[in-house]
Amino acid sequence: MKRLLVQFDTDPHPAVFDRVVAIDAGCDHLFSYGGITTENVVSLCHGAMFTRGLQDLKSTAIFIGGSDAEAGVELLKRIQETFFGPMRVSVMVDSNGCNTTAAAAVQCAARHLPLGGAESVVLGGTGPVGFRAAQLLAVEGATVRLASRYIERAEAACARLRQLVDGAKVLPAETSDEGLAATLDGAQVIIAAGAAGVQFLTGDEWRSVESLKVLIDLNAVPPAGLQGVEPGDKATERDGIVCYGALGVGGLKMKIHKAAIEQLFSANDRVLDTVAIHRLASELA
Ligand SMILES: NC(=O)c1ccc[n+]([C@@H]2O[C@H](COP(=O)([O-])OP(=O)(O)OC[C@H]3O[C@@H](n4cnc5c(N)ncnc54)[C@H](OP(=O)(O)O)[C@@H]3O)[C@@H](O)[C@H]2O)c1
Repeated sequence: MKRLLVQFDTDPHPAVFDRVVAIDAGCDHLFSYGGITTENVVSLCHGAMFTRGLQDLKSTAIFIGGSDAEAGVELLKRIQETFFGPMRVSVMVDSNGCNTTAAAAVQCAARHLPLGGAESVVLGGTGPVGFRAAQLLAVEGATVRLASRYIERAEAACARLRQLVDGAKVLPAETSDEGLAATLDGAQVIIAAGAAGVQFLTGDEWRSVESLKVLIDLNAVPPAGLQGVEPGDKATERDGIVCYGALGVGGLKMKIHKAAIEQLFSANDRVLDTVAIHRLASELA
């Protein structure tokens, strides 16, 4: 039975990146749809659910992408409501690569220290990638300082995280000049997940954090998000600190993305969201 992946993108044009990965991950055919909303997704979903017999439904799967991560979450909810009984296909959500990138970053950190009880900081923690990295660190039992330029945004993100993760130890923090020292104090892991081209820390700033063990910069667009961390860094030691750059994390991210697509076709009821993709990433390690 041919493997069919149905790509629902919340942007007008389905992402080329997601299409290439789908083909490289072994899909036989890819049906790509752009401009997908919670209103127009239901009939398209019916097309995926009702065309093949129950025993063959595992060979059809849905991928949700697009630049709006919250729209992706809403779409997943609507798709799950459309399924009933055994009439369902597996679904993965990875809007703008947020879940696979966050899972890869957290997995890189986990190679170098136990995350349970670790002190971590996510700079740019209000964005799609940073928020999910903070979520996964909290799932692993780390204390997370979720930092934003605006404390109200950090507080709102922390409140959402507490709803998502039972017992999450998350604290709002600031990336402003006045708040930065308190944000970094005692950090063992720092993940920089700011918008492309945003530099959060100078080399002197991160070198002054004596407790620091792992530094991860997800921004690939110059200047570096963490000065002195090169995009290609992959467990590269700099002044005694293990560093990863965007490309260093990107290899693992691609591996996770392809493995997730592969897993979609193992049954007709897989739901690969932030936590499930993280679990898969841990198994790959
Ligand atoms: N390596 C990979 O494989 C990979 C894959 C996907 C994405 N990425 C990278 O991961 C990073 C995060 O992606 P994203 O989509 O989550 O980013 P995003 O939504 O564009 O930005 C994340 C956060 O950055 C903060 N920010 C925006 N402009 C800023 C500025 N001028 N100064 C300081 N902070 C600013 C904002 O937080 P506040 O407004 O709350 O301060 C925002 O929520 C990006 O650099 C992206 O390119 C890497």
